[in-house]
Amino acid sequence: MTTYNTIKTQLLREQHTWCVTGVAGFIGSNLLETLLKLNQKVVGLDNFSTGYQKNLDEVQSNVSLAQWSNFEFIQGDIRNLDDCNKAVKDCDYVLHQAALGSVPRSIEDPILSNAVNVSGQLNMLVAARDANIKGFVYAASSSTYGDLPGLPKVEDKIGSPLSPYAVTKYVNELYGSVFETAYDFKSTGLRYFNVFGPRQDPQGAYAAVIPLWTAAIIAGDTLFINGDGETSRDFCFVDNAVQANILAALAQGEASGEVYNVACNARTSLNQLKDMIFSSLQKFDDDVQVPEVVYREFRAGDIQHSQADIAKAEKLLGFEPSHQIGQGIDQAMPWYLDSLKEEQAELA
Ligand SMILES: NC(=O)c1ccc[n+]([C@@H]2O[C@H](COP(=O)([O-])OP(=O)(O)OC[C@H]3O[C@@H](n4cnc5c(N)ncnc54)[C@H](O)[C@@H]3O)[C@@H](O)[C@H]2O)c1
Repeated sequence: MTTYNTIKTQLLREQHTWCVTGVAGFIGSNLLETLLKLNQKVVGLDNFSTGYQKNLDEVQSNVSLAQWSNFEFIQGDIRNLDDCNKAVKDCDYVLHQAALGSVPRSIEDPILSNAVNVSGQLNMLVAARDANIKGFVYAASSSTYGDLPGLPKVEDKIGSPLSPYAVTKYVNELYGSVFETAYDFKSTGLRYFNVFGPRQDPQGAYAAVIPLWTAAIIAGDTLFINGDGETSRDFCFVDNAVQANILAALAQGEASGEVYNVACNARTSLNQLKDMIFSSLQKFDDDVQVPEVVYREFRAGDIQHSQADIAKAEKLLGFEPSHQIGQGIDQAMPWYLDSLKEEQAELA
């Protein structure tokens, strides 16, 4: 039995209260769904800046009535300390996901990214410290490796950040660490590497590559690849990120208060990725057409290659990715197809 299965069995027997910030977003709503299915109580905080009510509605339809009654939603902002205090009150664990993601967004508006990602996390740390939270986990990022050459990336060596977003995520780690030194309050950072899966927004200027390309292929649109397509990433299915959060929240002793890579220790180039998405789509839709591909300039602030060494999370947390990239894409595909159909119906 894996550590995660043991912990899930234990959670099914004991109810705790979890605060999930960014609960209406992609990773936050997946955390909510898993926790409710484990009969946990969840208090969710979100201001709907990049998250959606429809994500919460979808979770509601995937859980039982009794499980849904364990969820309390607070519409609020992590930049407001009162909202944070309200959200963590009476909670045991905090999974802090709320932030403004996307490197290009941060290049366009560094002040906003800093306010949400840095001041927002600081508020959450202060609120959690004052509420004596037992386990505080926050979303860090692989962007913290910046310009560090060499693969795979190991937690204890980072380079210089390449974007304002990367700075904010690194500052999150610095605050995490200083809260242990200054206040004896431990928090655990999860450096996610390109998380993907159901409920990741395929729309908008800052959409991530997998939902963006999947939607484009389904719609018969051109695929734009930034660079020569040999840029590579360690794509991580969202269930793996959910697992890491739950393991990290419950971690004890030397395993808590650390920073961990969360991915699969595998690398897929963008050229390979487009072929994987296309062949997965073919399994569900006979009519799908080979996309036209246009290569264009590399994007400012992007790193060329990324791959995680996950030995630390495996050893200290018992982390074992349940899905490799291909399995994740196949599992997410019906969701992309359904959500696109819904969108087309709304437009009609
Ligand atoms: N998805 C990835 O590949 C990835 C990679 C590295 C790190 N991360 C981090 O993981 C976390 C979750 O990312 P995601 O992909 O689910 O993004 P997302 O945009 O889907 O979710 C973020 C959620 O936070 C909410 N939010 C934003 N600002 C807020 C504020 N001021 N107050 C309250 N709520 C606010 C949004 O409305 C949204 O629901 C973020 O911290 C992100 O930086 C994600």
